Amino acid sequence: MSMYNETVIEHFSNPHNVGDMENPDGEGVYGSPVCGDMMKIMIRVDENDVITDAKFKTFGCGSAIASSSIATDMVIGKTIEDALTVTNKQVLDALGGLPAIKIHCSVLADHAIKSAIYDYAKKRGKTYKGLEGFDPDADEEDTHHGCDMETALPEHLSDL
Ligand code: FES
Repeated sequence: MSMYNETVIEHFSNPHNVGDMENPDGEGVYGSPVCGDMMKIMIRVDENDVITDAKFKTFGCGSAIASSSIATDMVIGKTIEDALTVTNKQVLDALGGLPAIKIHCSVLADHAIKSAIYDYAKKRGKTYKGLEGFDPDADEEDTHHGCDMETALPEHLSDL
């Protein structure tokens, strides 16, 4: 039996929001301190502070791809403030869970989204509740070590 549930497999096999975005309003790149994999997230934000689009590219495993797929789905259509309230646990719950050794892969998506919002806020000179003290270069607290690189789809791996 697979260690992954059907939702995770579906988001890995047919990920949403993969790709590039021209002139994003915010962009965040994060490298996992656990496995060294990288995630890049780009967001488009309208004049009402609503995230109208989000895209991701990753040098990451299947769990990172599935997490990014569902996490970008979850923030599209939300205001920046609401997007900042999305927790890593909510992403994991929406995925139906990940094996403990793979939790750190979902942190990649979470941190990269926050970094993209941080970049947007900095460019626009805005401040948001939920970004106080956020450091895009800081490592997220993470105790789950497991660095087996799994098969990733080729289009996720191009020019980060
Ligand atoms: Fe590196 Fe999953 S993101 S092992």
